[in-house]
Amino acid sequence: VTGRRYGQPVTPSLLLASNRGPLSFSEDGVVRRGGGGLVSALGGIAGTEDALWVCAALADGDRRAAREHPHRLPGSPPTAVRMLDVDPVVFDRAYNQIANSTLWFVSHLLYATPTAPVYDARFRRAWAAYRAYDDAFAAALAQEAAPGAQVLVQDYHLSLVPRQLRERRPDLRIGHFSHTPWAPPEYFCLLPEDVGREVLLGLLGADAVGFLSPRWAEAFAECCVQMLGAERVEGGVRHDGRTTRVDVHPLGVDAEELRERSAQDDVQTRKAALREVIGDRQLLLRVDRTELSKNIVRGLLAYRELLLRRPQWREQVVHLALAYPSRHDLPSYREYTGAVQRVARQINDEFATPGWQPVSLEVRDDYARSLASYAVADVLLVNPLRDGMNLVAKEGPVLSEYGVGLVLSREAGAADELGADALLVNPFDVSQTADALHEALSVPAKERAETCARLARAATAMPPTAWLEAQRAALS
Ligand code: G6P
Repeated sequence: VTGRRYGQPVTPSLLLASNRGPLSFSEDGVVRRGGGGLVSALGGIAGTEDALWVCAALADGDRRAAREHPHRLPGSPPTAVRMLDVDPVVFDRAYNQIANSTLWFVSHLLYATPTAPVYDARFRRAWAAYRAYDDAFAAALAQEAAPGAQVLVQDYHLSLVPRQLRERRPDLRIGHFSHTPWAPPEYFCLLPEDVGREVLLGLLGADAVGFLSPRWAEAFAECCVQMLGAERVEGGVRHDGRTTRVDVHPLGVDAEELRERSAQDDVQTRKAALREVIGDRQLLLRVDRTELSKNIVRGLLAYRELLLRRPQWREQVVHLALAYPSRHDLPSYREYTGAVQRVARQINDEFATPGWQPVSLEVRDDYARSLASYAVADVLLVNPLRDGMNLVAKEGPVLSEYGVGLVLSREAGAADELGADALLVNPFDVSQTADALHEALSVPAKERAETCARLARAATAMPPTAWLEAQRAALS
């Protein structure tokens, strides 16, 4: 059980496993930080000396790096990173077809059921790949971990890993954490019966499973009862003679780190440019990946209805929609991005005047631009159909300079902690969302600042380091 880092053997007593890792490599070998909420959340592990982060190679640059450095990647001190070079076809089936087109769709209730899902021979082939992909993780973790080590497995890409790992290494303390919602039993059972059971049994291989909201934890436990005949016991679920803890660890943001990053020049320059463009209008902001569950189209339709029904806001508001590219290997995501662009264009065609463009949609990744926008936004719209947590809703109030009003979907995990000071909406109800936007834009500055201060306090209650500690404590 050895790996070499800076010439020193490492026998990790804390291991982390996630599909996307903290580093990615371009074709020419340049190292970048891996993107996304999961990676930032787990950043807290970066200072842990005897930890190992096991992740997958996602594209060709990663694959080359993983082949050249099969045990430890360069450029990742102080936490060691091992990147698995899984066969590209297996990876594509596991990541695109199962993780993103099946498990993500089930947990976010995304299917348009008259036509999808269809579980056929192609699905079965993909499911076999997913099992193999998870098994590659289990094998690597089993090979690396020190006796009795803690292993924190993350998310729906790796739902079979806890059980596969326990079969190899019963001495380990295994946790699994879901960053997504969990589907209620009547929706989860859309999955083929044996697949649904395999997913649940996979997770129950852990000593403790964690969720971001009590709603998701409850749904998981109920699925275990209804599909496996498991028994609910205090603090967890009992099945086949073993008890798995079921915990809720909400995740907040690290205010200090966000503020430090925001103080840098690239953010400040963008902030000044934004102020120029907005002038004395109000800024309605959204920041998302172009992700089906984020409900961007209905958000735009709500803004359109606001301008239609309450013409007093025309020329008084600018809507900046930052919608970063995501999962573009999937046709449904490419089509969705097209739909978002179309609706934004229609609103501009319908309402623009010589000095005013109602919507500015940007489909490109620019983190500094998001941070700058948080600082100057007046209202933040976060209206996902369903979301494990949603950290945008938390980052916005923390970085707001004069106070931001939050219009928030009741279906986001973040509503648990922010609901009291946000305007909660049913994400399907465009008219209600339009009314909430009106209300948020109408709030006097002083009141908005006070509400925002409370939102920011709630948003920082459980910073990533504490969240990670809570997962570890559940295992000890
Ligand atoms: C979001 C979700 C995570 C998920 C990640 C994967 O951050 O909250 O649950 O792991 O997306 O995104 P990716 O870009 O790696 O497909």
